[in-house]
Amino acid sequence: MDKIIVEGGRRLQGEVRISGAKNAALPILVSSLLSDGVNVYHNVPDLMDIHSTAMLLSHLGARVSTEAQTVQIDTGGPIQPEAPYDLVRKMRASILVLGPLVTRLGKARVSLPGGCAIGARPINLHLKGLAAMGASIELKHGYVEASASCLKGAEIYFDIVTVTGTENLMMAAVLAQGTTILRNAAREPEIVALADTLMRMGADIRGAGTAVITINGVCALKPVATTIVPDRIEAGTFMVAATLTGGDVTLMDCEPEHLGALVDKLRQVGAEINLSEHTMHITRRAEIASVDVKTQPYPGFPTDMQAQFMVLMSIAGGTSMITETIFENRFIHVSELRRMGADIQVSGNSAIVRGVPRLSAAPVMATDLRASASLILAGLVAEGVTRINRVYHLDRGYEAIEKKFAALGAAIQRTG
Ligand code: EPZ
Repeated sequence: MDKIIVEGGRRLQGEVRISGAKNAALPILVSSLLSDGVNVYHNVPDLMDIHSTAMLLSHLGARVSTEAQTVQIDTGGPIQPEAPYDLVRKMRASILVLGPLVTRLGKARVSLPGGCAIGARPINLHLKGLAAMGASIELKHGYVEASASCLKGAEIYFDIVTVTGTENLMMAAVLAQGTTILRNAAREPEIVALADTLMRMGADIRGAGTAVITINGVCALKPVATTIVPDRIEAGTFMVAATLTGGDVTLMDCEPEHLGALVDKLRQVGAEINLSEHTMHITRRAEIASVDVKTQPYPGFPTDMQAQFMVLMSIAGGTSMITETIFENRFIHVSELRRMGADIQVSGNSAIVRGVPRLSAAPVMATDLRASASLILAGLVAEGVTRINRVYHLDRGYEAIEKKFAALGAAIQRTG
């Protein structure tokens, strides 16, 4: 099982190119099911989750071919309605095939995704929305069995802002009969990216990126070519790393406007950040200041940046409170950071982080995707050599992360 070994103490210097966004690519690749032809996707990151999605789409009947960062998906042949447990369990976002399969085939049998380390992550809002559109939904033997002769437009209110719930129902609605209105919809850039792709396929969607999305169903969609937007969470991870090490780093091919909340917080911490259209330059000369953070749906501070920011606060000059409002169990990284000398007390969904002068290296274990990234960040500034086990979590969402950090001067390597 791969490990990552990091020796602390290096300032990161240089340029890093940001890859395509995992959380935009996943729904966009799935949207190929809504057309019957050859879709081409550029700037697709080389990640485990992308491979899992390609495997699932192939199982459904699509013909998938990958050449470097370009993925071609031909859905012109027969598509079958079942997504089995052994594929869905590898990646929860597989539930995104539910809406497209019901709207294309009139039926779907998709394994329930189950929970994960950070929370139960139910899909009740996905199912409530499909039922509102006229689908009959049954839960049997760990599967969702959905069917509808023809989905009809409906007005759907999300009790909780849900990213993949918004994506699933937007994809179900584009070929439904009539108008669907999604209220309290997610506003993430990945929602806008999916909507842009669907609109270029011929869908009629208004309001993507706002809390109210209106979709007028059309008869058919055509295949298109799409370029995946940059990964804002990968970019944020490198921004925190540059701030943490007091380095001088330029991020290339990124979208600064997707990172407003993080840029604001990092400037409060003491980072100096210069933005241009597709680059961000980060340095820090002042001491790291303690700043409170509360995760929120976009455009608030992203939950996927909470673990990384906690590392920064663990060596800041005071005390900060980090509150996690999106997932019920997203402090798993705290115990590992404590083993590296961090002073963190968790109370409910808040963590009080008292800055310490320096972290100390230790053998630690990755537990989920973003917690794994936070352990690399901690290793970059810890005294000594940190060994991170179970790094397969990292490979789900970060493309060649140790190579990118090494190119910035970090003493980091992967071992078998
Ligand atoms: C997406 O997950 C992202 N994944 C997550 O990124 C991200 O952390 C999350 O959105 C929040 O921004 C992808 O886009 C593939 P949610 P998703 O539905 O859609 C509750 C990463 O590290 N909820 O927005 O699964 C849910 O339990 C991953 O890249 C319901 O109660 O998250 C959670 O508390 C981690 N019922 C909250 O809503 C539902 O039907 C937000 O979840 C759906 C969600």
